Amino acid sequence: MKTLYLTTPIYYPNARPHVGTAYTTIVCDVLARYKRMCGCDVAFLTGTDEHGEKLERAAAAAGKSPREFVAEKRQLFFELWHKMGIPVTVYPQSDANSLRFIYTDHPDHVKSVQRMLIRARDNGYIYTQRYEGRYCVYDERYVSDNTDPVNCDICGRPAELISEDNYFFKLSAFQEKLLTLYDQHPEFVKPDYRMNEVKSLVKSGLRNISVSRKRLKWGIPWPDDPTQVFYVWYDALTSYMTGIGYAQGENGNADFQKYWRNKPGESELVHMIGKDILRFHAVYWPAFIMAAYPDQVKMLPTTIFAHGWIYYEQDKMSKSKGNVVYPEPLVEALDSLGAPGNDALRYYLLREAPFGQDTSFSYEGLIQRYNSDLANDLGNLANRTITMLHHDYAGEIPRPVPGSGVYNVFAQGVGADPQEVHIARMASEAKSKFLAAFENFDFSRALEAGWSFVAEINKYLVKEQPWSKLRQVDTGKGQYVTVKPEYLQTVLYTATASLRFLAVLLNPVMPHACQKLWEQLGQQGAASDQGIWNLKFEDLVPGTKVAKPEAIFPRLDKAKALATLEEYAQADRNRDKPKEVTKSVENESTKPPATSGSGFSDSGSPMDSIGVRKSDQPVKTDTAGPPPAGSGPQGGTAVPQTPPPQAAATESPKITIDDFAKVEMRAGEIKAAEAIPGATKLLKLQVDIGTEVRQICAGIAEYYAPEKLIGMKVVVVTNLQPRKLRGVESNGMIVAASIGEQSRPVLATFGEDVPAGARLK
Ligand code: MSP
Repeated sequence: MKTLYLTTPIYYPNARPHVGTAYTTIVCDVLARYKRMCGCDVAFLTGTDEHGEKLERAAAAAGKSPREFVAEKRQLFFELWHKMGIPVTVYPQSDANSLRFIYTDHPDHVKSVQRMLIRARDNGYIYTQRYEGRYCVYDERYVSDNTDPVNCDICGRPAELISEDNYFFKLSAFQEKLLTLYDQHPEFVKPDYRMNEVKSLVKSGLRNISVSRKRLKWGIPWPDDPTQVFYVWYDALTSYMTGIGYAQGENGNADFQKYWRNKPGESELVHMIGKDILRFHAVYWPAFIMAAYPDQVKMLPTTIFAHGWIYYEQDKMSKSKGNVVYPEPLVEALDSLGAPGNDALRYYLLREAPFGQDTSFSYEGLIQRYNSDLANDLGNLANRTITMLHHDYAGEIPRPVPGSGVYNVFAQGVGADPQEVHIARMASEAKSKFLAAFENFDFSRALEAGWSFVAEINKYLVKEQPWSKLRQVDTGKGQYVTVKPEYLQTVLYTATASLRFLAVLLNPVMPHACQKLWEQLGQQGAASDQGIWNLKFEDLVPGTKVAKPEAIFPRLDKAKALATLEEYAQADRNRDKPKEVTKSVENESTKPPATSGSGFSDSGSPMDSIGVRKSDQPVKTDTAGPPPAGSGPQGGTAVPQTPPPQAAATESPKITIDDFAKVEMRAGEIKAAEAIPGATKLLKLQVDIGTEVRQICAGIAEYYAPEKLIGMKVVVVTNLQPRKLRGVESNGMIVAASIGEQSRPVLATFGEDVPAGARLK
């Protein structure tokens, strides 16, 4: 079996990951899933880059030891990957299908880095020399080898003057070797235009570089010289080897032997990075490896792919500008609107720009893409096809009619009716284009191919109009019969086969939505277990029962979606404030799930793999009182509330009429009410608020029998952010008085009849 070892950069844990940093991990997850569906054995690594002056200073500013500081911060990373549907296993544990996570404060990493260095030293590539120059602390890089003041050309900050005795690496000795490598292996750097940049950089001459630091404490100790620590990039790059078992045993463990192997056509080693760190990966890293393992091409990476940057509406994301987009609130906001947040974000990031080039992120662009491609083109196709299967074929996939195009494709024959033959051919063409583009890291083109196919089927259905041809027709004798031309079986079969095909093809990009589609089509097991190369349009089995249609990509109202995205982002910013300055990872919103073990000890011992998403955790209380500080959006019901209302009333600060106007209250009619299993105080209500029926959880079960509530008109706060109570979505709040010491809830109702939806002012 072919192997692939795929890595993201290891991230600096001094800041929380944003959409820009999450981009590489998302892309790698897509690629890893794709390669697995191609039958490849994939190991996939990410991690945190925890040493260096920048982190030492950030820890000091937070009043913590660097070790304590990075241990807290790294959790933000693996929690985020979990939330994004990418399960993580922390080194030294590993799991074939999850994302491996290495952190450079792990003791094994010291062994790897020192081992690589000792080999390079034994081969004569290390020497001592006085270093004087300018260094950018922020980007951990030498900016200039002379002492003149200069600003960092990446971040623009003034570079600091450094003067110390260091160990040097003979980078200049690798100039020719690197140029030969680039010439013999054009796949070493991708895209091609990046390879050209690297070549001209190396051709312009390479100078030896200092690979140790004297004045820094927070780093990997230099072997035999406790006064020095390693230069962070030497340390960081080597983490790719540590993360796959290099430090375990003389020559690495079994995983290292298996995955750290660059053999064209058999085993590949791919580093996915942002364009800003290309020099370190395409020049330093192969030189460090060649110094330790001369003439061993199999130890070098196969490909370094440098992608472009994500900007926020054309501008660089920066916390100080307030334009940083964080993935968690974005995904939660979309989820709250019924859209699959993670999958929508993945699709948008991959579809928007050719991979490799810079792209601009905007909420409007995201909603636009979602609505046009996912809700309209694909979502509608799925929804109406499955609905028609239920309506016209009792929920069963019909058999294509003998003689029709698809029947003949199905029966390996020649099509009598060319249009289904054409669709089947388009499917296979879309697949070929999709796979070729994926092999070339051209994700937007792959999706383009997928959507041209979607457009073909939609065109076909518009032409055939299976929905309008299946009408009830008046016989003229007071009776109606259903007219169902037989060939429509073929049409429905063709549409369903196309959807099945797409559920597999698009799976690496939108794994959760595609699995949902797969199940709605009545298919067994996991769509991701299907071999993508063997995928065939006509493999859909007639007679299969489909499940109930459920909108996978419900259309978003643009104004409402923008407001919700902003609301969640704002709530997140508010939560983030104390998080940055205080014990960030200990509040409810960022704590690791209960099943995750006890975290990291100072010795760097890792926690177990985390298997539970935070949103799946049971809520500790089944009442809906105010959430713990910083715990996120509210919802549910206002009752019962403590302290008693009188006390609250006297202590409440005054608000303006504008503040009050922000709360939207409407009359709502309770349409259904039921208990929530395991929750003694909560009821799940369906409340008609005029424009829609909302699901709201209310803490009134001890005082109101569900059946007594039906038809009751109550006051609903309708513009609260949805939240989950006991795992049940609650989208609004029922207003009630809170009476006596028991805080008995009494629902606010109306003295006169009012229509559902009437606004309270
Ligand atoms: N620690 C080093 C990498 C060491 S790898 C051996 C580092 N860390 S980083 O946290 O600053 O950046 C990690 C990755 O995030 C880089 O690939 C960088 O290009 C990427 N990005 C950071 N901001 C980004 C965007 N706005 N858009 C896309 N990628 C971005 O560098």
